[in-house]
Amino acid sequence: MSNKLWEKNYGINEEIERFTVGRDREMDMYLAKYDVLGSMAHITMLESIGLLGSDELKALLAELKNIYAVCERGEFVIEDGVEDVHSQVELMLTRKLGDMGKKIHSGRSRNDQVLVDLKLFIRHEIRDIAMLVKVLFDELIEKSNQFKDVLMPGYTHLQVAMPSSFGLWFGAYAESLADDMLFLQAAWRMTNRNPLGSAAGYGSSFPLNRTMTTELLGFDTMNYNVVYAQMGRGKTERNVAFAMASIAGTVAKMAFDACMFNSQNFSFVKLPKECTTGSSIMPHKKNPDVFELIRAKCNKLQALPQQIVLIMNNLPCGYFRDLQIIKESFLPAFDELKDCLQMAAYIINKMEVNRNILDNKMYDLMFSVEEVNRLAAAGMPFRDAYKKVGLDIEAGQFVPDKNIHHTHEGSIGNLCNDKIQALMEQCLDGFHFEKMENAEKNLLK
Ligand code: ARG
Repeated sequence: MSNKLWEKNYGINEEIERFTVGRDREMDMYLAKYDVLGSMAHITMLESIGLLGSDELKALLAELKNIYAVCERGEFVIEDGVEDVHSQVELMLTRKLGDMGKKIHSGRSRNDQVLVDLKLFIRHEIRDIAMLVKVLFDELIEKSNQFKDVLMPGYTHLQVAMPSSFGLWFGAYAESLADDMLFLQAAWRMTNRNPLGSAAGYGSSFPLNRTMTTELLGFDTMNYNVVYAQMGRGKTERNVAFAMASIAGTVAKMAFDACMFNSQNFSFVKLPKECTTGSSIMPHKKNPDVFELIRAKCNKLQALPQQIVLIMNNLPCGYFRDLQIIKESFLPAFDELKDCLQMAAYIINKMEVNRNILDNKMYDLMFSVEEVNRLAAAGMPFRDAYKKVGLDIEAGQFVPDKNIHHTHEGSIGNLCNDKIQALMEQCLDGFHFEKMENAEKNLLK
């Protein structure tokens, strides 16, 4: 049974209906709460410009609040034959309030409605991701400080290279996250502009008060140009996905290191047995599947911006149904990233560090540069010192001095973790999630 907002006096081909709706109803479930909030702001504005009576506004707001509560309880459904979340909310209002429900769509299109829903949804997800990145960051800084004096080999070409430390290794991923957060912040700022009022992408002949809906929804400002507001569909998702991919890239790389360092051939780190998985045939196995899955999921997330780009890049300005398909990869990606971040922090916390790596003679040669530097500091030209140590190594006469002195900023002896923490704090301070939270609270009170 069809129940379309745009239904007129002819039937709708069922095959076309099946195909054009596709998985969209499932995707729209992510947006239900936000569709309600967007409608609350829109109708409050409609009343202010005389398109709704104040009693009508009161009744509609009360009912939208009920629908919001239904969403919060996890009981919201898009009924059979209803095309999308926007149609479902309007249907629920009309069922309850009759003609009043039919008035709410003045000056609005599903095009700007889905734009605003997406932005409201994304704001919450960015907040959650920022919090989870911070948890992982704190864990990494803590481990970095805890193991700052534990040396490990650093590699180039996967060949033993120079002394590194667990302080450096953990701290490197913390600083990487601090950089990733810059993208998240840029994504936040671009998302936090109100597209509502652009309607189908060309505005409206009603004197819409877009400043009012901007304030009611706690946006920083609006997407001013209505054509551009519509062009933000796809672009916003791509920018957010890019920030997510940047974070995922850091986590995937860290997971690869952890898998490698956990191998018996390295034995730098170990997972407690209860955090490993076994084999159905090899009784001794204790596999780091958790890091492997984090790696794969985070690698997959890095394809997200490309997927979105390929869907939206070659579209001219104006709305197209193509944009609907972005939701299918974009919306579920947040839960995947959040799960990976949470699990990464959890497993890093549990990871045990081998404090005796350097007992193995295999790593002695990583002190070669230290020896060259000692000679150079004592006055021998660097190239001569290099040659002397090189010849000692070839003759099997190199004796490592494992007392190293790395003191400059960011080196083993001077990690600058406090500076890295300041970078992260600075970035987090730029978000102002309270503005969004207060605006939504006010709408719902
Ligand atoms: N499901 C649609 C989407 O995600 C909603 C907008 C529909 N607009 C339209 N003109 N058909 O894009």
